[in-house]
Amino acid sequence: MIDREKPIGVFDSGVGGVSVLRELVRIAPFENIIYYGDSANAPYGDKSTDEVRELAFAAFNKLISMGAKAIVVACNTATGASVRLLREQYPDIPIVGIEPAIKPAVIYGETVLGKSDGSSKVLVMATPVTISQSKFAHLTEEYEKRAKIIPLPCPHLAELIEAGDPNSIEVENYLKELLAPYKDVDSVVLGCTHYPFSASLIGELLPGVKIFDGGLGTAKEALRRIEAAGLKNENKTEGSISFISSKNEESTELYKKFFYM
Ligand code: DGL
Repeated sequence: MIDREKPIGVFDSGVGGVSVLRELVRIAPFENIIYYGDSANAPYGDKSTDEVRELAFAAFNKLISMGAKAIVVACNTATGASVRLLREQYPDIPIVGIEPAIKPAVIYGETVLGKSDGSSKVLVMATPVTISQSKFAHLTEEYEKRAKIIPLPCPHLAELIEAGDPNSIEVENYLKELLAPYKDVDSVVLGCTHYPFSASLIGELLPGVKIFDGGLGTAKEALRRIEAAGLKNENKTEGSISFISSKNEESTELYKKFFYM
């Protein structure tokens, strides 16, 4: 197979990265893609950074062994734990990660809401590991003069979504309690790729609050990097999408269900 026709590998701890995959397929329909969910080891969000790094390297190597020409780390937790090291070790492979979309939320506060005095409130929902990482601390430091950034760890939320219904009563009750003190924020950043599937519920619980997620930005960056490396698939027939899981067939069915949701 010529390099351009090789697949893009996309991975997450489970179903969450499908929210990034959907955006990638929308903007790059001609690419072949392998989606790998590490459901046997999910969730990543309450493991140590070292454990997540090890799992991310294993997922990366699995996709490379399957012939991936580029890798999208469609998991904020794994990106924070591994992307810098992956790039150091594999400088010739385009590797794109995802991080909480704080920048557009800050710009929204300044421009659309006119709060250029740093008073707009940005709530960042993410896994406990993402919020504890130094990458996250650097990201929030970058914007702390321009907005009030409020990190909100959401332990077990990814697991509740992974259970199969992102709008279940369990997810709703969890979010109701978690978000009750934050009705006055201006925007919410979904800093875990599982959360966009519950975005409408989050929107109902925080009326008038603008929601941001990094899925589309990450997909665009992946496409840009692939083009820059001369690896864009020029074929004009729809690409293939394969779903694989470290766990079982049931998990791959779940990924497909969320993909078409
Ligand atoms: N979807 C992942 C993220 O973006 C993490 C979910 C988990 O395994 O805890 O952070």
